[in-house]
Amino acid sequence: MKRIGMLTSGGDCQALNAAMRGVVKTLLNSGEEMEIYGFLDGYKGLIYGKFQMLTGRDFSGILTKGGTILGTSRTPFKTIQDPDENGLNKVEAMKQNYYKLQLDCLVILGGNGTHKTANLLRKEGLNIITLPKTIDNDLWGTDMTFGFQSAMDIATDAIDYIHTTAASHGRVFIVEVMGHKVGWLTLNAGMAGGADIILIPEIPYDIDKVVDKIEERDKRGSRFTIIAVAEGAISKTDAKLSKKELKKKMEKYPFPSVSYEVAAAIQKKTGREVRVTVPGHMQRGGSPCPYDRVFASRLGAEAGKLILDGQFGFMVGYKNREVVRVPLEDVAGKLKAIAPDATIVHEAKLLGICFGN
Ligand code: F6P
Repeated sequence: MKRIGMLTSGGDCQALNAAMRGVVKTLLNSGEEMEIYGFLDGYKGLIYGKFQMLTGRDFSGILTKGGTILGTSRTPFKTIQDPDENGLNKVEAMKQNYYKLQLDCLVILGGNGTHKTANLLRKEGLNIITLPKTIDNDLWGTDMTFGFQSAMDIATDAIDYIHTTAASHGRVFIVEVMGHKVGWLTLNAGMAGGADIILIPEIPYDIDKVVDKIEERDKRGSRFTIIAVAEGAISKTDAKLSKKELKKKMEKYPFPSVSYEVAAAIQKKTGREVRVTVPGHMQRGGSPCPYDRVFASRLGAEAGKLILDGQFGFMVGYKNREVVRVPLEDVAGKLKAIAPDATIVHEAKLLGICFGN
């Protein structure tokens, strides 16, 4: 008999359900007797002992379902070791609930912040296995996270839709793409959607270079320009500011997001009409794409295998087209960003894409 706890934490994404189904199916197919405890709304469920006992039937029919059947929430790692508003020691509470239910292992699906807490629980002696979810694809130790491909499809669709209206009106259009502090989603969706300019956090932009590209296109007779801007994009000037100076600037920031700042600057410098589209959380919604269904199922199956093998303290990742086991201590606290001199950036430049640098 194995007792497995499971939780999904942080921002949701597509294929969380597919991954959990993969774990459970693998365990059930092994013939092992199992009790599954699904903690609700992320680490909160583990802290406050909110869980549901689940059976194989709960995981049936969820392969194609977006979101997470367990619910999720953000429980920042920064404050995880602080007592809650009633003085409860959250880390101790999580440990106690784990031991009270006599769990053999806890499967945690999450992104960067989630992995820091998962590693802390591992260090505290719990048997932890994690699965890499996030549309941002910024987890260290894996070439790919599930959710990324599905979100890329949606962001690409958004750019495709904008293309036709941009062409009709001869306007400059900005599509703002999610991705937090990295540009994986923007770079890939931008290339897939044929964006002319791509601005990502890893390559701070110079607005004059952006304007030069628009004017060069004008001169060539291209009536419109599509700019894919990562929500975390930053200008060269701002990138030089200290954390404190940037925080001060942001306190009086007059724009809803960086795309509007870029739009205002282009409008001022060129007199051209600029429109901004922000697909926002749509990028995390809906069914996982076929790639993510397969990918998350494969990672889930490997997680199930780890449990059966009694191997804990790993994230199941993906390296060089192989599913791999990555020690949690190697993953936690590291960000996987795009190297400004990465091959894909070089290739994008060969295609004529401007990064504003
Ligand atoms: O980490 C996933 C993500 O969607 C990021 O791309 C984005 O910056 C953030 O979450 C949005 O967070 P929230 O859902 O809390 O607004």
